[in-house]
Amino acid sequence: MVPLVTGEEPIQVLFVRAGCVVCHRIPGIAGADGKVGPPLWLGKTGAARLADPQYRGQAQTVREYIVESVVSPGTYVVPGFPADTMPAWYGRKLTAGALDKIAAYLELVMDEP
Ligand code: HEC
Repeated sequence: MVPLVTGEEPIQVLFVRAGCVVCHRIPGIAGADGKVGPPLWLGKTGAARLADPQYRGQAQTVREYIVESVVSPGTYVVPGFPADTMPAWYGRKLTAGALDKIAAYLELVMDEP
């Protein structure tokens, strides 16, 4: 595979190159003002996702939920947002290191800075 990003990049570069900024607001990331998907402040919203009775995924922690959401977006569709819209191929285009870096950042984001 030719990864979009390796995980060696600074987090700002990683989110831009992976294209997440087009669809998501991500506090602390310049230019991340997309409105297609939910704002990515999983430090605030992650626990509620796991507690939702509609949640049918495998994740036990917010960190695992973030990785699952990126590699398998159809596992749980956030209420109020469109299904089959987030690309389903990120699992083939992001290295394990890049996924880990994304999850480590997002699980700590509480709100707008
Ligand atoms: C083409 C638009 C698009 C792109 C690009 C995109 N996403 Fe998404 N994303 C969505 C939509 C729409 C949802 C909500 C529906 C769903 O849950 O699948 C979502 C949901 C999510 C969720 C769950 C959020 C929550 O509040 O529970 C995470 C985490 C996520 N995306 C991370 C990412 C990351 C990281 C990237 C880049 C690697 C990315 N997305 C790229 C559209 C996109």
